[in-house]
Amino acid sequence: MNEAPVPPGLMEMDWAQRWRSLVTTSHVGPMFAGPAGSDRFARLAERFDAGMRENGRAEDPLLPLILPLARGASVIDVGAGVGRFTLPLARSAREVVAVEPSAAMRERLELHVRERGADNVRILSDPFEAAELEPAELVLCAHVVHFVADAPAFIRKADALARRAVAFAIRHDSFEAPLMAVWSRYRKDPPPRQATFADLYNLLLAMGYTPNVTFYRRAYHLRLPEGVDARVWLSRAVGEEVSEADARDALAAAPPFLREACVWWEKEAP
Ligand SMILES: C[S@@+](CC[C@H](N)C(=O)[O-])C[C@H]1O[C@@H](n2cnc3c(N)ncnc32)[C@H](O)[C@@H]1O
Repeated sequence: MNEAPVPPGLMEMDWAQRWRSLVTTSHVGPMFAGPAGSDRFARLAERFDAGMRENGRAEDPLLPLILPLARGASVIDVGAGVGRFTLPLARSAREVVAVEPSAAMRERLELHVRERGADNVRILSDPFEAAELEPAELVLCAHVVHFVADAPAFIRKADALARRAVAFAIRHDSFEAPLMAVWSRYRKDPPPRQATFADLYNLLLAMGYTPNVTFYRRAYHLRLPEGVDARVWLSRAVGEEVSEADARDALAAAPPFLREACVWWEKEAP
């Protein structure tokens, strides 16, 4: 996998640097984590927890893609959050090590693990980069790498720890869809955005990986921070006073689904 030649011209773009700049400038979306420091994932933790409780046992669209890789296996779930994937994986896997540095996420994850009696789940509080981990059959990184500035080191560590397979889940369509719809009416420069599938795939190609990709869809509901209406959020993000009419158009442009990608590869026998 690491031996694949890099397509000509791809290295003209510094994908790692591009990634870093997306990570450090993307804090505008309705779901962005808070500023670095304290627990920047505290608000997301509430959202994710509510989502997990609302969705109950409805099957997540990523699960059918990763469960076959996890059956009977040891799994590292990197950036486990409140356990959206940790808990269903624990039902099939032999053991799941959930790496989750946010205290707010971890508190809810621990509760779900206790409530479901998932005694094959172990939770680590270090960031993945610093965590001391034994190799596992599957390393899953779901919706986490777009928060990580040094993605190449993160990817190499995930790959080095995986005995059988590595899987990354990442959005293809922008979470900031309504913002994208109004941005160009007010600004000439490109809108800030989170790193998405295309950024990850190009980075992986430039690093010498040629992973498999399976796309799937997830229902999209724009949820704004409490007490912030769409016009206020859009105006803050755009840096200009967005009109009521443009805010209405932007909301109407929010799609019912966003496409996500499961980017995965199997390890070659040594
Ligand atoms: C958007 S949540 C996704 C949670 C879960 N994987 C899911 O898809 O439901 C991102 C999670 O990654 C965690 N995270 C961020 N940086 C991390 C790092 N360097 N190492 C491990 N986890 C990290 C955050 O604390 C947060 O819980």
